[in-house]
Amino acid sequence: MAVATACANIALIKYWGKRNVALNTPAAGSLSLTLDRLRTWTEVVRDPSATHDRLELDGQPVIGRPVQRISKFADIVRAQVGDECRVVVRSHNSFPTAAGLASSASAFAALAVATSKAFELTLPPRELSVLARRGSGSAARSIFGGFAVMHEGQAEDGSDAYAEPLEGAGLQLCAAVAVAKSEAKKVGSTDGMELTRTTSPFHQAWIDCVNRDLPEAQSILRRGDFEALSELVEGNCLAMHANAMAARPGILYFRASTLWALEEVRTMRKAGIPAFFTIDAGPHVVAFTTPEYLEVVAQRLGGHPEVQEVLTSTVGDAAHLLQAMP
Ligand code: PMV
Repeated sequence: MAVATACANIALIKYWGKRNVALNTPAAGSLSLTLDRLRTWTEVVRDPSATHDRLELDGQPVIGRPVQRISKFADIVRAQVGDECRVVVRSHNSFPTAAGLASSASAFAALAVATSKAFELTLPPRELSVLARRGSGSAARSIFGGFAVMHEGQAEDGSDAYAEPLEGAGLQLCAAVAVAKSEAKKVGSTDGMELTRTTSPFHQAWIDCVNRDLPEAQSILRRGDFEALSELVEGNCLAMHANAMAARPGILYFRASTLWALEEVRTMRKAGIPAFFTIDAGPHVVAFTTPEYLEVVAQRLGGHPEVQEVLTSTVGDAAHLLQAMP
């Protein structure tokens, strides 16, 4: 039995497009901040008597695609150690699952740490990042705490497509997440990325944009320029969504509250409150700010009837093992 925890991360420079779908390698790099408030705890138990893998999410048995995903993931570890044993996975999230709130990042980072431990496979952080990536591209970044940079890699086998911590960032950021009242996201990231890659006329321009934005974001973070980071991150987020919207049929994750929150963040910034937004594959707006302004930003973001709640978060730590489920 092994238990691990990992935090989700929110990308400042987004990942949207795969180089190799089977290996889940990205077409470009990305940069994220791991958030403490969005956490997954996962227990993996080897079950020698079982004929198939099982999954329980928040105490409820799950069937279908999520089980296939964790089974495929466990197969990678089983193949590496030469052990066929089936597993029981019990997982718990501290936030709404599959609503475009990066739950796959914390889920597969925790699963990578717990599954490798359950099969007595000792992996250094970089290898854990490669393993987590096989489950979900953004999970590669959640192996690390704080800022993480994902490398797209060149190798055919995906061995150099991993994340690593960004050292020397001169900004202390925290986040307010405006959770929109909405059902689970309609277009998952894998389907959305493939539809965008194959049909959007803007896709190559987007990849080129990431290749320019990523080194710039790192140098801005090192010199601690909040204003420059705000412009860059919002621009990168809107470029990602413009690309997804230009797919056929267009993928639109925004809802009324999303557009309202974007305006609200920009209004705050004009009034001297340091804040900038980003949006993943869902309707929720994440506003990054500095610790002194977190409460005021969170309070302002709650002012729309379609915002269900605002979660506030400081920086999350690296994925790690625990003695038991909390
Ligand atoms: O890791 P995935 O396959 O769920 O993709 C994540 C995609 C975005 O959240 C929209 C962007 C990102 O870089 O996290």
